[in-house]
Amino acid sequence: MTLRVILGSDEAGVDYKDQVLADLRQDPRVGKVVDIGVNRADEDFTKAYPYIGIAAGEMIRDGLADRAILFCGTGLGVAISANKVEGIRAATAHDSFSVERSVLSNACQILTMGQRVIGLELARRLAKEWIGYTFDPTSASAAKVQVLAEFEGAAARG
Ligand code: RB5
Repeated sequence: MTLRVILGSDEAGVDYKDQVLADLRQDPRVGKVVDIGVNRADEDFTKAYPYIGIAAGEMIRDGLADRAILFCGTGLGVAISANKVEGIRAATAHDSFSVERSVLSNACQILTMGQRVIGLELARRLAKEWIGYTFDPTSASAAKVQVLAEFEGAAARG
């Protein structure tokens, strides 16, 4: 089964977003790539990092995509924003081990990275690695992820 992957960024991450987008369009593990912007010419405040993170999270929540890779200056803003959406687990990771564990331990649907933090070639490599991991719902990690879902359900019910 191939993945549907969203690529997004604010203005501080657009160069890396466009490069990883091009990489994933050539990746046989990826069936569909959705570019939610920004585009280089965008200067609109509605493309600031919170809008991009929330939009990606909502698309995954609504079943329109499986995963997202998001960029901003640090990776932090888009992660914080996406994590506001119910059911979304987004993590900023700039090393191979954290990239692996974000999926295998934490079932993250979203990886975020910072264009002002790591080099382009490392970001491309980490994106490629991350796409290769699949969460195992029968693993010991599943019960811990379930705690998050239960907390969200309880919070939503008040
Ligand atoms: C630039 O707006 C910068 O603050 C942003 O890209 C990000 O690093 C925020 O988390």
